[in-house]
Amino acid sequence: MSFRGLFIAVLLSTAMIVSAFVLQSRRPRMEVDRPTADLVKAAGKCADCHRKETSAVIHEFEMSRHAQVGVTCLDCHQPTKGQDPYEHKGFTITRKLTSNNCRQCHEQQVDEYMKSRHAAPAWAAVTGTEDFTPEQIAFAEAIHEGAVDRPPHPLVAVQGPASINKGCRQCHDIGRPNADGSIGSCTACHARHVASVELARMPETCGQCHMGPDHSQLEIFHESKHGALFNVQRGRMNLEARPERLTTGDMPVPTCATCHMSGLEGEKFTHDVTERLSYFLFASVSDRRPKFEEGQKNMKAICLKCHTAPRIDEFYKDAEAVVDSTNTLVEEADAIMAGLREDGLLTPEPFDEPIEYLHFDLWHYGGRTAKHGAFMGGADFVQWHGYYEVVSKMTELKKSAEDIRALAVKGKGEAAPKAAAAGELPADVLATDAKPASADQAKGGADASTNPK
Ligand code: HEC
Ligand code: HEC
Ligand code: HEC
Ligand code: HEC
Ligand code: HEC
Ligand code: HEC
Ligand code: HEC
Ligand code: HEC
Repeated sequence: MSFRGLFIAVLLSTAMIVSAFVLQSRRPRMEVDRPTADLVKAAGKCADCHRKETSAVIHEFEMSRHAQVGVTCLDCHQPTKGQDPYEHKGFTITRKLTSNNCRQCHEQQVDEYMKSRHAAPAWAAVTGTEDFTPEQIAFAEAIHEGAVDRPPHPLVAVQGPASINKGCRQCHDIGRPNADGSIGSCTACHARHVASVELARMPETCGQCHMGPDHSQLEIFHESKHGALFNVQRGRMNLEARPERLTTGDMPVPTCATCHMSGLEGEKFTHDVTERLSYFLFASVSDRRPKFEEGQKNMKAICLKCHTAPRIDEFYKDAEAVVDSTNTLVEEADAIMAGLREDGLLTPEPFDEPIEYLHFDLWHYGGRTAKHGAFMGGADFVQWHGYYEVVSKMTELKKSAEDIRALAVKGKGEAAPKAAAAGELPADVLATDAKPASADQAKGGADASTNPK
């Protein structure tokens, strides 16, 4: 070979090696990284192929405790009783996973969750009984009387299916019944592949649903001393500590999970979020829960891991005073509404007259928020989003009720009183909208949101 030929050959091969390096370095990381030997062993062919197809799933899975302890893809994805088998690349899997898949290894968590209002009652709030079997209804009713055997909330009919599917159901699906006979999916707080306690302990995880004007728990938490401290110190906390060994050293500041679920310093850790509650705060008028004493004892036991008893007792006393005083205000508003109904000045249907929205806003936004703020340390929510809303709506409500009565007197003899309530309805509409059966239905429906039992 001539020198020139040799030179060209060397040049060409150098260029090829360099370009191969360049190309290789530009390839996406997932193609460069080979799955670790451990992961192949643990998750096998699924992971190998899905690293190319859906790499995020694998990265999430790799971060999970499941990957560490050798739980495989198929452990979760194999069909359990009642699930449709799906032939997939030489494996039989299921495409819809439910709490039954998790139950194979986490029976206790599933059983506790089933007893909470996160299970059937959450779904029934929106859909009523229609999606449940008689056994499921009986099981939940034995624990939460009236929470499943009830009509859907009346707003569902008023707003229609599009809004309900993308709105109410997205949050209330935490208790959705599944085709395999189980309830819920466990991923609301754990996500699908990372299944971590760290995620479940973050306030934002609960805040996916527990936020907004009607249940501002996330905003209240961020306003509280607990929230302020947590935001600064979370980087120094051990949010991955195992539940049975969680100490105040791991988390010196509580999040939603700590107060409502965690087993801090040896306390019982629970998936029944109802266990530590003593009042039906979400109700318009808040009664004590059937297990009032026990609920309050359970929650206080958690506070007492970090606080002294006299302070906690005083905190509860002040918060209970807020329950009493909002109850009095809401009862006053209820009496105004009941008076109008008794005198036939409102239609039996809920949510068809402006005053009904005013009344709903009064307790559902203002009243409820004041109570939540009082129990979780949100002064602004007690005051400006709470009491202030209640008292200002009350004056509007009274004025509106007076107007309705005045209109009725004026229109007496000509049109039915209903016309007054609606402002000025034409007589032909009035003739058709009196449905004798709807009075009961509306009562059940309108009270569905207020009846906690
Ligand atoms: C040879 C490649 C390959 C293997 C092996 C493989 N998958 Fe897949 N998988 C795919 C592809 C490609 C898709 C996307 C199919 C589509 O888009 O319709 C998919 C889709 C899925 C889905 C979504 C199914 C749906 O329609 O909702 C699940 C769940 C799944 N795979 C789990 C697994 C599990 C678990 C294993 C191992 C037991 C596995 N896969 C093995 C390639 C693979
Ligand atoms: C802890 C249980 C668990 C393990 C382990 C697990 N998955 Fe999943 N996976 C789920 C759940 C739950 C879903 C959601 C299913 C549904 O929508 O009903 C899911 C969904 C999926 C999907 C569909 C994702 C989408 O958004 O379209 C794919 C693909 C998938 N898994 C692949 C895998 C692979 C591959 C592995 C192993 C590396 C694996 N999974 C391990 C529980 C698990
Ligand atoms: C094949 C058995 C198996 C299945 C199925 C399974 N898990 Fe696990 N899971 C485990 C084991 C084992 C651990 C580790 C427990 C330990 O560390 O002692 C674990 C740990 C966890 C943890 C704690 C993680 C952490 O950060 O400490 C969560 C949360 C969890 N699983 C949720 C789920 C959910 C949700 C499902 C269903 C989608 C599920 N698991 C399905 C066996 C399983
Ligand atoms: C996917 C939405 C969703 C997530 C995420 C969620 N919740 Fe809930 N939660 C609900 C719904 C809906 C209800 C109302 C259930 C009902 O109808 O009584 C509820 C009710 C509650 C209740 C009151 C139970 C009762 O007996 O009245 C507590 C306490 C609670 N959740 C705490 C939490 C905590 C703590 C977290 C996070 C660790 C969390 N939730 C995450 C949707 C959610
Ligand atoms: C952003 C998430 C979210 C949306 C959207 C949502 N809810 Fe809720 N809902 C919750 C949470 C969280 C609670 C628990 C409040 C509490 O206990 O303080 C709740 C409580 C309730 C309650 C009182 C508890 C009970 O079981 O009676 C009813 C009724 C209810 N929701 C009905 C609905 C209806 C109907 C819709 C749609 C028109 C809807 N919700 C939309 C999250 C949501
Ligand atoms: C409302 C949110 C929420 C839901 C829904 C939920 N979890 Fe959890 N889960 C948590 C929290 C919070 C922890 C950690 C508690 C703590 O801080 O000690 C946890 C911890 C766990 C652990 C760890 C236990 C251990 O000893 O390591 C497992 C397993 C688990 N959950 C399984 C499930 C299963 C199965 C379901 C479905 C029935 C489920 N979770 C539904 C919030 C939730
Ligand atoms: C410092 C402890 C603590 C923290 C942190 C905390 N809560 Fe609470 N929560 C309480 C107490 C106390 C009550 C009232 C209990 C009762 O009824 O006796 C309560 C009530 C509730 C209720 C009302 C249930 C009803 O009857 O309407 C919900 C829902 C709730 N909390 C969710 C959350 C969420 C979500 C977070 C985080 C964003 C959170 N909590 C943070 C202590 C806490
Ligand atoms: C994991 C520990 C922990 C738990 C559990 C806990 N707290 Fe706290 N709490 C703290 C810390 C830390 C502070 C900030 C104290 C400081 O200023 O140094 C605090 C502050 C407070 C404050 C404000 C104190 C003030 O003087 O401004 C109140 C009120 C309070 N907590 C009430 C409660 C109640 C009620 C519970 C139970 C429902 C509870 N806490 C549960 C750790 C906790």
